[in-house]
Formats: sequence, C-alpha cells, structure tokens
Amino acid sequence: MKKILVLGSTGSIGQSTLEIVRAFPDKFQIIGLSANQNTEELERQIKEFDIKSVAVSDDIKANELKDKINGKCEILVGSKGIIELVKRNNYDILVTALVGFAGLLPTIEAIKSNLNGYAPSNGIPSAIDAIKIDAKNKGINNILDVFVTSGASEAIEICLSALLNPGDNFLMPTPGYPLYTAVESKLELEPNPYYLSEENGWQPDIDDIRNKINNRTKAIVLINPNNPTGSVCEKDTLFEIINLALENNLIIFADEIYDKLIFDGKELISIASLNNDVSCITFSGLSKNYVAPGFRIGWGVVSGRYEILNDYIEAINKLLRARVSANHPEQYAISSALLGNQDHLKELINKLQKRRDIMINILSKIDGINLVKPEGAFYAFPSVDVKNDTHFVTELIKETGVVVVPGSGFGQRPNTNHFRIVTLPQEEVLIEAFDLIADFYKKYKSKFE
Ligand SMILES: Cc1ncc(COP(=O)(O)O)c(C=O)c1O
Repeated sequence: MKKILVLGSTGSIGQSTLEIVRAFPDKFQIIGLSANQNTEELERQIKEFDIKSVAVSDDIKANELKDKINGKCEILVGSKGIIELVKRNNYDILVTALVGFAGLLPTIEAIKSNLNGYAPSNGIPSAIDAIKIDAKNKGINNILDVFVTSGASEAIEICLSALLNPGDNFLMPTPGYPLYTAVESKLELEPNPYYLSEENGWQPDIDDIRNKINNRTKAIVLINPNNPTGSVCEKDTLFEIINLALENNLIIFADEIYDKLIFDGKELISIASLNNDVSCITFSGLSKNYVAPGFRIGWGVVSGRYEILNDYIEAINKLLRARVSANHPEQYAISSALLGNQDHLKELINKLQKRRDIMINILSKIDGINLVKPEGAFYAFPSVDVKNDTHFVTELIKETGVVVVPGSGFGQRPNTNHFRIVTLPQEEVLIEAFDLIADFYKKYKSKFE
C-alpha cells in the first residue's frame, strides 16, 4: 500500500489524484491533505478518506474546519503547516498541485535529495525547458538562448555588463526601477534617461527616445508593467520602440518581471513576440508572479537573429560561467511554478486590483494629488503638488509612520514631484494609510507651503 500526501487536494490535479485512490483503494492510501481554496470540499475529503492531518492557508479556515470535524483530524496552518507535513516524511508519493509559495515545494524535495551542489551555469534543464515553454506561451518564437540567474537582478547586471563599455549608454525609462542606474554607474556608463509621459498614461515618449539615441547608444530598457508607475505599454508604442531598435541596432531589454500581474482582464503583450528580427532579452523570475523573492530566481530569454546576437550570447555565457551558477535547489521550483496550477494568480490579481481601486477612490478626493490608474504590478506613482517630494515624504514618515518613496528615487521630469506607493498591504492597512496621507497633506501644505 503506497501512502500519498496530496498538497492542493481541491484543485483539478488534487481531485484527479483522489479519483485514482478511489479506483484503487487497496493500492493507495491518502495520509495527509492540504487545500487553500474550498474548505467544504476539504471537509468532505477528510471524512471520505479518514484523513488524520491537513494543512490550510490561515487561522480563519482552520477554525471553520475545526468546528466541522470535531477534533478528528489535526489541522496545521499556512506554508509552515505544509512544510511540517512534508518534513514528517511518512509518505511514499508526494503530489504537489499547490500554487504560490507552497507550489515551490520541489525545492524542499531537491534539498532532501541532496541536490546541493553547483548547477549548470545556465540553469538546470527542467527549468530551461519550462522557461522556454512560458516564453512561447507569451508568443516569443525565435528563442536563441535561455539562462537562469540569482533573481532577475543578476540577469540584468550580466546582460548590461556583457554589452556596454565605459562611455556607452542605454536608454533608461524615467521613472524606472533604480537597479539599472546603479549598474550604469558601476560600469561607468553615460546616463541616458528617456521620459514616460504622465499625461499619456505613463507611456514611453517616443519622440524623446528618438532624440536621445546617439552613436554610443547600445540598448533600450523597457519595464513593462512599469515599476514605479504600474503602467502597461500599448501595442502601438511597442511597435514604435521595435522600429527604433531595428533602425539603430539597439538591443531591447524587456523587463517583464510583473508580466502575469495585469488588471482588468487584460494580458501583457510581450515586445519580443511582435517581431522575429528584433534583438531582445526578456527578463522575468519567481519574485513577483510567484511571490517568492527570497528564492532569488530569475532568468533571461534571448530572442532575435542568431547572426547578430551570436557573439553577445557567448559573452553573456562567459559571465554566467564566471559566477558558477544560480541557486541550485530553488531552480527545481521553476517548472512547477511556470507549468503548474496558476489559480493563485487569479486570487492575487483580484486582491491587487481591489487595492488599486480603493487607492484611486481615496486619493482622487485629495486636491493636489493626481494618480494615473495603474494597469498592473503593485505600485502607484501619484504626482503631488509640493515643492520637494523628498521633504514631503520625510515629514509624512515622521508624522504618520506611513512609508512611501519619493519620486526622485525613480527619476522624474524636472520640476515635478511624486511618491511611490506599494499596494501589497491588506485593505484595512491601506485604507488607514491613505486616510493618514490625505490628512497629512492638508497639514503639510498649510505648515510648509
Ligand atoms: C522592474 C524590476 N525588475 C527587476 C526586479 C528585481 O527582481 P529579482 O527579485 O528577480 O531580482 C524588480 C524588483 O523589485 C523590479 O521591480
């Protein structure tokens, strides 16, 4: 009799596992279950299979279940609970149909199997295959190379280092994620910011990009969805960027780390999917879509024409070999994350979208604060009518304890002021924080301006 631990028992993979157990009751026995979504179904399963241990996502679900099963089954809580079930090691077969952090359990299995040595420099084969499938699902067809790194951060740094020499420049979205400008300084590159235009929903300003290309410009960075604005690039704008890249032999660095967190029922259009000839490296990872930033797992997908990118790909791989490999056990999570059940995304997007709407509702009532509606990710970048955003933010933190980041940390057009909000906290916390910001803003204006 084989003992099975089923993680994610109310989802489709979990349900089919239970079907098999029903069909072969003398071959298999379920010894533990976990489910995050459907407590009623879980209760039914506990009774049918006489389960002695389960794990659920939170205390509310645990209490709900406790009332119904009358102490007949041990109830563990959260990812700690799931890990406890796995650690007991009293199963023969582990079915992990979970999503989010818990869906990354293959890493625990990898550590237990002592896969703690170095990995291949470009990544383990199952991860590379899964990333290729994910990229193809995004419409990227002409894939030339894929590599796994310690976070997208490492992929970005390696790709910039392999391409640019001191004095060269790349076009940097402004506002944008500051890692790029930090690497720019480290490599002694010339800053070349291009602006996103706030009055046009933070779309890249194509004329500004065109005017800023010079003979030392080697690449253009596109952060889509953008951190800090949450804006998503329109298809027409993507085509215009592709044309500029092709005309000027630029490589596009498409940072799509938030690609699965798009609101209002829309999907991201990957710039690399729109043209087979354009040279592009698309970055993503487990940090945002799979909510596992501490795993430090990211990747790059190179696409375009082999004869143009051949030498550059070799230069990237030289740097990948020099730093030996990305974290090894965590790479086993990549295929289960990308190819496994994606139900958590629906839940995550719903939560983030609701929080965005709450934010818009409260902030839109404040005279002097204006917000372009974010279309993805978990950020917002409202403009604020003050003389100095760093001073405003410092006073806000001191007075209220609400932490936002001044716009100057991300770059912004001269004589404008903004701050960045992260919408990850729970609704009640956000509502309290926005109310505090609204109150504080009035006081700040009368005290300082
Ligand atoms: C646009 C963007 N790119 C890259 C990263 C870094 O991601 P990772 O955790 O994979 O290094 C972040 C993290 O905030 C980000 O916002």
